[in-house]
Amino acid sequence: MTTGRCVAVDKGQDPQAWQRYADSDGPIVTQWDDGAHDGNEPGKVFSSSSSMPSLVFSMLADLGVKPGQRVLEIGTGTGWNAALLAHRLGAGNVVTVEVDGAVAARAREALERFGLPVEVVHGDGFLGYGAGAQRAPYDRVIATCGLRKVPFAWVEQSSAGGVILVPWGTYYGPGEATARLVVADDRRSASGPFTRPVGFMRMRSQRVVRPRHDEYVPAGALEAADTSFTTMSEAELRGTGSFDVTGFALGLRVPAVAQTADRERDGRRAVWFYGRSDLSWAVVVFRDGRAEAKVYQSGPRRLWDEVEAARGWWVEQGRPGFDRFGLTVDAGGERAWLDSPENPVRRGGGEPPWKMSSRALNAP
Ligand SMILES: C[S@@+](CC[C@H](N)C(=O)[O-])C[C@H]1O[C@@H](n2cnc3c(N)ncnc32)[C@H](O)[C@@H]1O
Repeated sequence: MTTGRCVAVDKGQDPQAWQRYADSDGPIVTQWDDGAHDGNEPGKVFSSSSSMPSLVFSMLADLGVKPGQRVLEIGTGTGWNAALLAHRLGAGNVVTVEVDGAVAARAREALERFGLPVEVVHGDGFLGYGAGAQRAPYDRVIATCGLRKVPFAWVEQSSAGGVILVPWGTYYGPGEATARLVVADDRRSASGPFTRPVGFMRMRSQRVVRPRHDEYVPAGALEAADTSFTTMSEAELRGTGSFDVTGFALGLRVPAVAQTADRERDGRRAVWFYGRSDLSWAVVVFRDGRAEAKVYQSGPRRLWDEVEAARGWWVEQGRPGFDRFGLTVDAGGERAWLDSPENPVRRGGGEPPWKMSSRALNAP
């Protein structure tokens, strides 16, 4: 999976290969399509996994647990991370919540078999796990699935000075990082910087559903759209590599937009933007060997203009990396910030430096 390729491995048929993969530093998908998929071929969506060991260790280092502390984990999966926590803190100090009943049952059984009877709760981790169980407040909350909205319940269920470690990103597209939030003394907010880029499967209720293209761009809509050209390159728009900060930073400034890239066709690559607040859309078409890319946009929002302005802002700020951004969560929701909580990232604004005038139409 580290190469983006999936290899099916069956313990019964090839125990040596199974052991090799189990020992490797890569993520291991253990469930596809919320359990609806069977067989050796990959399904559509990977829905449970054992996370990449080096990532698990980095997150545990960020979490910084100390003996005697109580931890709530969201996203039990195989139970491996819960086992590591239980090994360090004692099984009685770890509670883990898993939304999938079959996954939760398997993890519970595995943890008991290894003599680490962690409390595995089958439920929606967005709600945390609190009062009834007499477990909260927790000293540490760690999510091992990605979120776009951090529930205030986790703050309420944490102790003062506690830490919430959560992979977080926007709906804009790729670009996610772990936020390390420290809970305030009054337990009414939690705030802290992002520590590292990550790539987690999303919390079930916060998955991006790919917009239905035809709803946004019916027949004839492309021809009727406003057009312009941009000198922004594809690398400037999308960054390079899977842990590039660009999508993360732009998503903070462009609210309620989903970005998707088409596969390359004849040296042409189209990147689409779909508004989630209305049916506004935009597309920029990059072509091999051309310094300018053609832009089409339509609808009440000018999505490409918003994206250009967002990138202009990010460049003006000195192209900050993940570590200059942070997040604050309170009862009113969450706010991303740059350098300090007093400097929230505002949505929109800024003059795009590379905007060019509209030209005669070329085929997209
Ligand atoms: C990357 S896996 C977790 C890996 C796991 N910690 C381990 O050590 O193997 C993410 C898990 O989060 C679970 N999940 C997704 N949404 C959830 C939710 N709302 N509440 C609890 N668990 C959830 C998925 O079913 C999946 O098992």
